[in-house]
Amino acid sequence: MYFGYRDGEMQVEQVDLAKIAAEVGTPFYCYSYGQLAANLNAYRRALAPFHASICYSVKANSSLAVVSAVAALGGGADVVSGGELFLALRAGIKPENIVFSGVGKTEQELAGAVTQGIRQINVESAEELQMVAQVAQRLGKRANVALRVNPDVDALTHVKITTGKKENKFGVPWPQAHELYHAALQMPSLNVCGIAVHIGSQLLDLEPFRLAFGRVAHMVEELERDGVSIQNIDLGGGLGINYNVELPPTCESYAEVVRETLGHLNKHIIVEPGRSVVGNAGVLVTRVIYTKQTEQKLFVVTDAGMNDLIRPAMYDAWHSILPVNRTGEPPVVADVVGPICESGDVFAKDRIIEPMQSGRLLAIMCAGAYGESMASQYNFRPVPPEVMVRGSEYAVVRPRKTYEQMLEGQTVPNWVNEQ
Ligand code: LLP
Repeated sequence: MYFGYRDGEMQVEQVDLAKIAAEVGTPFYCYSYGQLAANLNAYRRALAPFHASICYSVKANSSLAVVSAVAALGGGADVVSGGELFLALRAGIKPENIVFSGVGKTEQELAGAVTQGIRQINVESAEELQMVAQVAQRLGKRANVALRVNPDVDALTHVKITTGKKENKFGVPWPQAHELYHAALQMPSLNVCGIAVHIGSQLLDLEPFRLAFGRVAHMVEELERDGVSIQNIDLGGGLGINYNVELPPTCESYAEVVRETLGHLNKHIIVEPGRSVVGNAGVLVTRVIYTKQTEQKLFVVTDAGMNDLIRPAMYDAWHSILPVNRTGEPPVVADVVGPICESGDVFAKDRIIEPMQSGRLLAIMCAGAYGESMASQYNFRPVPPEVMVRGSEYAVVRPRKTYEQMLEGQTVPNWVNEQ
């Protein structure tokens, strides 16, 4: 238990959240190093029987301290932009532990990846394949490429985070894959080394994985029969977490599906988990500014908003909201809302919650994934600072910017002020 109560006070590992709030101010993100390590180690243990790499999906949380923790724990990285590649390298992840995914990698981003000699570029189209080959040739290098194939499998998750259906923009269409592999083999600047698939995020059912991995196994067998040798099978990310009452599959049961579908092929397995590594390792702590009783509703207005954590507004995502200091009073029904000037700025509707007076602290749970990384300065608010806890120690790993710092680099041309 890395998040829990002691004498009614919520603690992250051995540190009181209220203490951090007093020092850092609200809102802020707080991460448990121990939870993150436990999540990563669960993957490591489960995949130990395979030759496997755990390439943490940096998009889930791209805080330097988080990515550095992954690096220190022996994890690799799945990156989707030149910026994430820079960050992963800066955090100490070796190029041979980095895979590069994404449907729109630019020439410049590809050049960076090829120069670094990363483990694998997951190519998503015929045009991208040409581009990688050109870039590698120009640089006098051989680029390691895999094709990300689209298996046309429904991940049975939220429509905005489903990626493996044929109408989605992702991956090489299944029927084109063979032709593209053979084209790639003709390009001397490419080293064709793998196949990749990613069907979606927050999967709670293993069956879509089983279906997709089974199809990939079949494709690998066909390719190898055709003279295309495959070393790496990249299975993407997607394992869900428990936000409310979900029962996500364990890493063991996921590994069992990998064994059943792909074990006989004896390939190097790559996984790209994001949410299941950092999701439950982070909370967003916020202070109640006001409460407001209307004829219909009780509103609890917090100092965190949709710019800090966009998941509820964007995906109708459910996050548990708990008092940092528990009083045990009988609960009320309230809407927990942010201060942003949009009606969508709602963290929870009709939530049964302890009565929360102004000034009290709330923790929005399971906010470690796609919280910080999707935060913005909307309403000209600084993105929340971040704190990492390990045991009884904690550190501010990203301070809150001042308004002056938020303006850094901006200029106003003289002619703006001319009449
Ligand atoms: N690999 C690829 C190619 C991906 O596109 C993703 C996520 C992952 C790995 C990591 O998936 P995970 O293990 O985290 O499920 N913002 C949304 C989630 C978007 C997921 C995008 N791709 C949310 O807050 O629910």
